[in-house]
Amino acid sequence: MFKIDVDNINGKTESLYVYGEHSILTELEEHNVVINYSCRQGHCGSCVLQLLSGDVIHQDCLVPLSQGEILACRATPITDIKIGVRDF
Ligand code: FES
Repeated sequence: MFKIDVDNINGKTESLYVYGEHSILTELEEHNVVINYSCRQGHCGSCVLQLLSGDVIHQDCLVPLSQGEILACRATPITDIKIGVRDF
């Protein structure tokens, strides 16, 4: 089981406990943490988050990502992680 620390995403700061079987987007939805998304397939980039600590497996995507950025719909935690909104 892994812990996802949510760092002030749309006003939510909390820790979620997950089995690492689903995308971060799905886990956030199941825990009522609301983020933007659209395609759920790594095409649109609307679900981008900042990975602040820990590691994820990231599936292929069409969106260019900067260092530390992940797509919630394409990433699954493989360690405890901390995530937040992207710095612009
Ligand atoms: S929802 Fe489109 S890239 Fe994640």
